[in-house]
Amino acid sequence: MTAKKLHIKTWGCQMNVYDSQRMADVLAPLGYAESDEIEGADLVILNTCHIREKATEKVFSELGRMRKHRAEKEKAGGKMAFAVAGCVAQAEGAEILRRDKNVDMVFGPQTYHKLPEMIANWESANGKTRILNTEFPPEPKFDHFPAEQATRGTSAFVAVQEGCDKFCSFCVVPYTRGAEYSRPAADIISEIKHLIAKGVREVTLLGQNVNAWHGDGLDDTTWDLGRLIFQLAEINGLDRIRYMTSHPRDMHDMLYRAHGEVPQLMPYLHLPVQHGSDKILETMNRKHTADDYMRIIHRLRDIRPDMAFSSDFIVGFPGETDADHRATMKLVDEVGYAAAYSFKYSRRPGTPAAKAGKQVSEDIKDRRLQELQTKLYADQTAFNASKLGMTIPVLLDRKGRNDGQLQGHSPWLQTVNVAAPDRLMGQIMDVTITKTTQNSLTGEIVTIAPISEIHAA
Ligand code: SAH
Ligand code: SF4
Ligand code: F3S
Repeated sequence: MTAKKLHIKTWGCQMNVYDSQRMADVLAPLGYAESDEIEGADLVILNTCHIREKATEKVFSELGRMRKHRAEKEKAGGKMAFAVAGCVAQAEGAEILRRDKNVDMVFGPQTYHKLPEMIANWESANGKTRILNTEFPPEPKFDHFPAEQATRGTSAFVAVQEGCDKFCSFCVVPYTRGAEYSRPAADIISEIKHLIAKGVREVTLLGQNVNAWHGDGLDDTTWDLGRLIFQLAEINGLDRIRYMTSHPRDMHDMLYRAHGEVPQLMPYLHLPVQHGSDKILETMNRKHTADDYMRIIHRLRDIRPDMAFSSDFIVGFPGETDADHRATMKLVDEVGYAAAYSFKYSRRPGTPAAKAGKQVSEDIKDRRLQELQTKLYADQTAFNASKLGMTIPVLLDRKGRNDGQLQGHSPWLQTVNVAAPDRLMGQIMDVTITKTTQNSLTGEIVTIAPISEIHAA
């Protein structure tokens, strides 16, 4: 089999990053080897995101830029296939094929296990047919992925849940990803064991609503995410467990218990609240209040005092007044986030909020976003500074900027730069923090021998 070159470009959330890796895994047995470069590729997949505006335009301009690479490949007597995958493919599949004649294949997020078949059909028609597949097949794609993920470092994503039944009034995800689905515990455990055998030490459990996971347990009952985490804690060699993204409505007793009792579960949680005003939360269809959210934060901090939080925020949601915005600012102040993502509200076709009468002007959105981000960045800087002088366990998972440097992550997902020899790659080392900025920490390794991970005070 001659080796073929595969280039995947990924936008959007971690689920898309995971999907891109699994597409590469599915295509490997067909002779496709992944490459960071587009030049000379036999197949290019754009794995797209539809969450905010200009998503579709971004795809078309990328396709435009890719054309010259295709022409070069053709001049050399080869062929470069263009495929569009992900959430834009799901939402705008037919439109993409109509508008850009160079696109050969369009397939949605739930069809990736069918890639070999789709590619074979396309190849056997000698590239003369175009493929459009935006089905939601009854069988979950996860059941048809290779059991093993090719590993890419010491930290890995494992999708445990996909899809969303929540229908927040601004969001396209329930339409592009489909209904909630939870993988069985046995499959998740087996995927993680394979990863550990290849050197992975940290796993992030992924899902659009990961704490809504309710899958078949090992004992023929349905488990919740907390129960799953207790089981994962039994796996030898799995030193760090994380999960994202969570919804405030799906926090449950067993998950709180896991945060108190499972040392491998990192003291950091991405728990998007979106807004601080109850009126806006209601029209967003979030089905929780600001106070409900604060109670979750306090309960977790009582259980685990070093717990840190991140969130997503939307400013300028239809109907948002200055008073509503101040409620967001107040909530941010009360929580004291370690990190956060904030966005201007973007009207998404087909979502209820897009039709709301009281859209907020761009000027006001800009001003509110700036005020919010100034506060969030200051809090992030302060959170990082709070680690100055502390000794914390750092998983060294990539090369640093300069020779003799490695980069790693703290329990709170901060990037940490340390002077360290390459042989320490993949180790969890105690590092004393000597410098902090808004975006990262710098530190010195305390001992050279790897020691087991300890909780920072
Ligand atoms: N499942 C996650 C979030 C998925 S989308 C959750 O429930 O929190 C990631 C983030 O994009 C959201 O948290 C939200 O802040 C933002 N987002 C989604 N739709 C948006 C829209 N129409 N305009 C602006 N931001 C949006
Ligand atoms: Fe979108 Fe809401 Fe579902 Fe998150 S919970 S994916 S924001 S609909
Ligand atoms: Fe984007 Fe789809 Fe993820 S819209 S955020 S890639 S679920």
